[in-house]
Amino acid sequence: GKAPVVTIDGPSGSGKGTIAKLLADKLGYALLDSGALYRLTALAALNADVDLADEARLAEIAGNLDIRFAVANGEVAAVLEGKDVSRDIRMERVSMAASKVAAIPAVREALLQRQRDFRSPPGLVADGRDMGTTVFPDAPVKIFLTASAEERAQRRFDQLQRRGVSVSLRDLLEDIRARDDRDMNRTASPLAPAEDAVVLDSTDIGINDVLQKVLDLVHERI
Ligand code: C5P
Repeated sequence: GKAPVVTIDGPSGSGKGTIAKLLADKLGYALLDSGALYRLTALAALNADVDLADEARLAEIAGNLDIRFAVANGEVAAVLEGKDVSRDIRMERVSMAASKVAAIPAVREALLQRQRDFRSPPGLVADGRDMGTTVFPDAPVKIFLTASAEERAQRRFDQLQRRGVSVSLRDLLEDIRARDDRDMNRTASPLAPAEDAVVLDSTDIGINDVLQKVLDLVHERI
């Protein structure tokens, strides 16, 4: 059979990236941060001055991405054309562009097989928006992690402050709402829980409690 996959989907800032990383470490599984693929596509497009409305060109960029994920000091670095762009892909303008290119069906199609190729023994933890619905519909464990938009904006705000980046909480909340709106209302793989997903809300519970719940499910089903 195929290696097991644990899918963790949800909106930005729900904590799914953190949970996915902790879970992959704990289980000794590989990790797929699918959002990074959309971010890398967006960055490559911005670097090449490609019009974000040029769908054919964007799909071509997605299909030909020269990327690699390198592990250094326990962190996963995203490498585009030989350059570590881990920081660049987290910039607000790349986030916005990523959510735009992610709405293009031909871009999603171009990235589909690349995502499935991450599946390997002993297993994979995949985080994103459509891991449980489209990319790994046969995953034995599917989590949909949410949190209120206010809580997610606050977390992002705290994270940026710790890094010395000054932003307004209101702008962050607006950005989060705009991205949620685009992710949930697009026709191609909109953000939604799979029918067989377990929905967890992290607004009022800590990361460790979320992790424990997910681990319980994994031990029950895999
Ligand atoms: O998860 P992250 O915020 O890094 O994802 C960046 C963008 O990529 C999201 O705003 C979303 O629009 C898109 N995305 C997606 N499908 C995924 C993962 C991310 O559409 N599986």
